[in-house]
Amino acid sequence: MTEFISAKEPITDIAPILAKKGIRISLEAEELLKKFADEIVLEKLIALNKPFLSKEDIEPFIISNEMKTQIERANDFIPSAKEYEPKIVINHTRDVTGKSRTKGETENFINYFRNRYERLSRFLRKSTSVPTSDLSEVKKHIGEKVRIIVLISDKKETKKGNLLFEVEDMTGTFKVVISSSRDNDKLIKKSKGVLMDDVVAITGKILEPYMIAEDIEWPDMPIVREKKQIDADLAVAYISDIHFGSRYFLEKQLDAFTNWLHCRGESKDLAGKVKYLVIAGDSVDGIGVYPNQEKELVVKDIYKQYELLDDFIQEIPDYIEVIVIPGNHDAVRRGEPQPALGKDLLKSDVLSLGNPTSVSIEGLKHLIYHGTSLDSMIANIPEASYMHPEKVMVEYLKRRHLSPIYGGNPIIPENIDYMVIDDAPDVFHCGHIHRNGYTQYRGTLVINSGTFQDRTDYQIKQGHVPTPGQVPVYEMKYNRLRTLDFSQ
Ligand SMILES: [Fe+2]
Repeated sequence: MTEFISAKEPITDIAPILAKKGIRISLEAEELLKKFADEIVLEKLIALNKPFLSKEDIEPFIISNEMKTQIERANDFIPSAKEYEPKIVINHTRDVTGKSRTKGETENFINYFRNRYERLSRFLRKSTSVPTSDLSEVKKHIGEKVRIIVLISDKKETKKGNLLFEVEDMTGTFKVVISSSRDNDKLIKKSKGVLMDDVVAITGKILEPYMIAEDIEWPDMPIVREKKQIDADLAVAYISDIHFGSRYFLEKQLDAFTNWLHCRGESKDLAGKVKYLVIAGDSVDGIGVYPNQEKELVVKDIYKQYELLDDFIQEIPDYIEVIVIPGNHDAVRRGEPQPALGKDLLKSDVLSLGNPTSVSIEGLKHLIYHGTSLDSMIANIPEASYMHPEKVMVEYLKRRHLSPIYGGNPIIPENIDYMVIDDAPDVFHCGHIHRNGYTQYRGTLVINSGTFQDRTDYQIKQGHVPTPGQVPVYEMKYNRLRTLDFSQ
């Protein structure tokens, strides 16, 4: 029978006391005694009359077996994620890394737009009561109602206050009018959200030389989607925009997050489930990203900035799979799609992928994009704002495109448009805005993962309020997203 003595006020200097009695103790025994031995325990140990006491010798005097297991767990918490093998499948066809073929010539631009149009128009071709017509045939339908699938090549307001779109498809061009009449409120609102280079289906009446629009559709995500069952009780943590090298980088907050991943803080069970960490770009602050940026740097050597990223990755528990993509501050080409960071920059053993990229994590399709084009989206979509990046991300999903406005931010015209969203993602992760935001859209979990950079002077001038140190963690099995706050 184990004797159990509760030790409310432990004697911490027990080793010297025992030494005076000619008793030596092992280091492990000393650790345990420091925590739990009181005067009663001490008396019992002396009465044993042994010259050396091991951990096993003293345990029966201090703790019950149940307590022992508890102590072991507290001292050596075993994260559940450690027990699992990672399950990641990279969709290389959706990643430009190693596949850039463009010379930036006219032919590349033509191929780029043709590829964009063909892939997006496929989502708009469906059987409707109104027949779909190519633009070359549209004049045969004067006075009739038709549906056209087009790319918006120009957008302006007429003198009468109507909205005029110039549109094109593979066969020709045409003009579409959205009447400003009072009973047309719904369509006017919708048409204001139509962006340059959007691929849309427009239904309307053909009145040569125009179409009078009645409805506009984007390719959009499917409404009904199969619910995926994830068996492994594992979690993904999403971060972005660490900005190593910047004087605004929040080192203590990032350290707190790393510590948490080691199960050394609150919500230990959740920390132990984290098997994947996704970093969605702008890991470093970079060099020369905008004029006078060097004034905001504490590390002015790009390689040293990436060394800081490597140091951080080294600190992450080794059973966690890390995925890193670049952003507009990273030292790869500025134009999107961006190839992965090479080994010359990021030396750690991580999955270094392009921007954007598509990966399946435990069977859940993840679309990961830094979010550089969020700026041009916010500037051009009424009601879009920096306060709600998640709502702007939904606009990408509707359009099935990650950078609809050509030239809104630098785009490299590859022969394939890597910014098209072919597959409906289960999780869509962006950064760039430095403000956390989450929503659900037609079965896609939308996450903007904020930042580990403090509010900059520029952001103060812009009135932009970032949310640093907030990390969304997604438990896949329970479809539960939680945000952990490391800001304090
Ligand atoms: Fe960014």
